[in-house]
Amino acid sequence: MNMMNTKIERVNPEQIDETIMEEAGRLIAEGELVAFPTETVYGLGGDALHPEAARKIYAAKGRPSDNPLIVHIADFSDIERVAREVPEAARKLAGAFWPGPLTMIVWKSAVPMATTGGMDTVAVRMPNHPVALDLIRKSGCLIAAPSANTSGRPSPTEASHVAEDLSGRIAMILDGGPVGIGIESTIIDLTESKPMVLRPGYITPQMLSEVLGEEVIIDPGIIAADDTRKPKAPGMKYKHYAPKADMVIVDGPSDAVVSKINALVHQKQENGQKVAVIATEESGPSYHADVILSMGSRLDEDAIAQHLYRILRECDELHVDAIYSESFQTPRIGQAIMNRLLKAAGHTVIHCD
Ligand code: TXA
Ligand code: MG
Repeated sequence: MNMMNTKIERVNPEQIDETIMEEAGRLIAEGELVAFPTETVYGLGGDALHPEAARKIYAAKGRPSDNPLIVHIADFSDIERVAREVPEAARKLAGAFWPGPLTMIVWKSAVPMATTGGMDTVAVRMPNHPVALDLIRKSGCLIAAPSANTSGRPSPTEASHVAEDLSGRIAMILDGGPVGIGIESTIIDLTESKPMVLRPGYITPQMLSEVLGEEVIIDPGIIAADDTRKPKAPGMKYKHYAPKADMVIVDGPSDAVVSKINALVHQKQENGQKVAVIATEESGPSYHADVILSMGSRLDEDAIAQHLYRILRECDELHVDAIYSESFQTPRIGQAIMNRLLKAAGHTVIHCD
């Protein structure tokens, strides 16, 4: 593809620079791509109703074109521009969680096939970030935005991650600092008889089910470690978020995990390999490895989510040959964290006791 000059503009979310945002909005309206912060991860935005903009998004990311994009809106009524009908469940969930880290799948109306990857449904989300909302409003468009990473790499949680992957391929990057949540939005499908979570995230099935007053199921395809069941969200089938080195998760009681990982590290080092361990503040000092990466305190699951993708990227920068990670089955968002970690490790888990 033709390389272009990517403008990187710093925007303070608390005091948004109107001139920069007007330029960014104009670029989107003209069919160009602008990366922007959301509360979950950075997104790569383009006009959702403009097939050519959608094609540019797929090209910039190197993304398979059967993997549909999420349409980002700034006002609830905008959902009517893309949905055939707005289910009652969508109104309830929007009332409770929008703007916020929740994407809803509904039957689509006039969204180009280029945006929805050929599907009859559309994913819609109202992000909870002042820069994202301002960009949508200033552009006058609905904004299609996948995570702003090269396809297959960890999602970007800082503007520098976007620049690493997409510099020269997009018109502008809005740098609003590090994101708050660090993992992508929860996706809920509202097109079947029972609401179903297609991607776990910060908003848990329990929170959704409390608002809906009915059971919310989880797509069996995202829990299975093998290929027997296909996940319903096309993007969930890809090996994703993966660092370049081989990664293994070691699960079990903390003392057993420390001994097991130290033994595995020792073996690799004997063979001249450079090894990283993904641990916590509490356990970090117990490991002997070339690099010890801390996800923060095991008691702070929000911090674990925030650090995850940056740490996976660091493994690439440090050119390690092997990575051993502790498991993070934390109480509330552990399911979302482990979903990403398991994919990064290609579902390779050693259980010890
Ligand atoms: O937090 C987020 O959702 C971020 C920020 C930028 O908003 N965006 C994001 O987009 O994660 P992306 O493209 O990286 O992931 C979108 C996921 C993919 O797994 C895709 O297959 C699924 O949503 N998806 C999109 N439209 C769908 C549809 N109509 N039916 C089923 N899955 C869909
Ligand atoms: Mg993504």
